[in-house]
Amino acid sequence: MSEDASAALLDLARRIALEAAEFAIEARRGGVSVALTKSSPVDIVTAVDRDTEALIRRLVLEARPDDGIIGEEDETRIGTSGVDWVIDPIDGTVNFLYGIPAWSISIAVVTGSADPARWTALAAVVVNPSTGEVFEASAGGGARLDGQPLQVNTNVPLSHALVGTGFGYEAEVRRAQAEVLLELLPLARDIRRMGSAALDLCAVAAGRLDAYYERGLNAWDHAAGALIAQEAGARVGGPGGGAATFDLAIAAAPGLYEELAGALRRAGVDA
Ligand code: IPD
Repeated sequence: MSEDASAALLDLARRIALEAAEFAIEARRGGVSVALTKSSPVDIVTAVDRDTEALIRRLVLEARPDDGIIGEEDETRIGTSGVDWVIDPIDGTVNFLYGIPAWSISIAVVTGSADPARWTALAAVVVNPSTGEVFEASAGGGARLDGQPLQVNTNVPLSHALVGTGFGYEAEVRRAQAEVLLELLPLARDIRRMGSAALDLCAVAAGRLDAYYERGLNAWDHAAGALIAQEAGARVGGPGGGAATFDLAIAAAPGLYEELAGALRRAGVDA
């Protein structure tokens, strides 16, 4: 797809993400409660997650009725155009519930496959409605925060790196994640767990984190943030040095990526 086509998709994604952000923050003022739980009692969905995703789906299909949609809260819609929208209506739902201003609307537009290991990302927008920040990127068009170009931090050794990560919702998964962290924490400047994978990846793009890794992310958690980090100069990858997948996502400037991947391998992770 041409850079112009990607830029047009980015314009549409931005418009939809901003409308969704306005809807979600307004809905939050009306109060939030847990509507249901998913993989564990702490893996929550609020009515706002579902209503925001429904709004995004409606806006996408009004503009592009033949596209597919992969969203966190509803079934995958198979499209016929070869273009898929990968949506997390609220990434950082626990922060949203508690009123911590680090949750986001994450929208990526991809083509070629519905599998994150094989798709090509065309455009991406991540909005933090609490701060009003809009992170975005299009393939080959660079990454921006509120219109200003983004660039990852370079030449940072792991010993001086601020590294973001996150944890799953299931006890056994968390135990394994904590064991890896035990090995990594003494090697880095410090660790941050901010609670929205999409914002973590944007933080790498903006130099607010030097690196980020997480195991157990779903496609909608990393689809948009990965393109934004990549377009800001990060290497984004996963198991065995391949693409980011559910098993592992890593983002950092290339030198630090290698060092972090090595440390993760020594901690038993296929990186
Ligand atoms: C979660 C957040 C969190 C990450 C979890 C994700 P959700 O997404 O991105 O930072 O650590 O793995 O599931 O559930 O808030 O959409």
